Amino acid sequence: MLSVSNIDVYRGETQVLWDVSLDVHPGERVAILGSNGAGKSSLMGALTGALPPSRGRIDFQGQAIAGAKPYQVTQMGIALVPEGRRVYKDMSVWENLEMGGYPKRGRRHIKQSMDNVFDIFPVLQERRRQSGGTLSGGEQQMLAIGRALMSRPELLLIDELSLGLAPRITKEIYQALSGLGSETTVLLVEQNVEMALKNSQRAYIVESGRITRSGRSEELMADQDIRRAYLGL
Ligand SMILES: Nc1ncnc2c1ncn2[C@@H]1O[C@H](COP(=O)(O)OP(=O)(O)O)[C@@H](O)[C@H]1O
Ligand SMILES: [Mg+2]
Repeated sequence: MLSVSNIDVYRGETQVLWDVSLDVHPGERVAILGSNGAGKSSLMGALTGALPPSRGRIDFQGQAIAGAKPYQVTQMGIALVPEGRRVYKDMSVWENLEMGGYPKRGRRHIKQSMDNVFDIFPVLQERRRQSGGTLSGGEQQMLAIGRALMSRPELLLIDELSLGLAPRITKEIYQALSGLGSETTVLLVEQNVEMALKNSQRAYIVESGRITRSGRSEELMADQDIRRAYLGL
């Protein structure tokens, strides 16, 4: 479904990713793990057209996306929940979701998509008239995910789902996501390695701009080096 081959990415003059390759298959839950500054968000930027790679290929459903503009990537069926959520604070929950449905692939289905989002996150329906800025951190993350789902993506990218959230809330959101079904493929970025490995089938580890390990999440979870480096065990 998504195939990234040997990409290099720069931010200005500075190279931030080296020779990164990864694959995501339809219906999978795949995690990208790594500490702060490793290059995870830069990888999301490359996938969404914000940071076009200087080398390598990115293919989605057999079409090249390296070089596509962000709105074209959305149109192809990729949606990003950005790091820090970036909910529109002065708009209501309803309006935030409507904005997410504005891209062409979402526009004709706004009512139905909104009902789907309210099924997954019922609290958003209760709060639909409240402004985004009045929501708790967890609710804002739900809203950011809901807004991304409004464009009816086939691939949902979530950058730092759990950052700043209590473990209980994080669990609740992961639980809700498991209700999405296999028609929505999810690529998750997390600093919380344990949470990410528990909620994915496969994972890649990024260190200093390179992929250093990959494999089945349960195998990585059992790996002594990873337990020592990331789980403090
Ligand atoms: N807007 C930016 N401009 C320049 N460099 C940046 C910017 N954002 C991040 N970086 C640098 O790029 C590298 C990778 O950062 P990032 O992709 O944000 O990592 P992560 O998401 O894994 O924390 C880091 O060295 C970081 O300092
Ligand atoms: Mg980041």
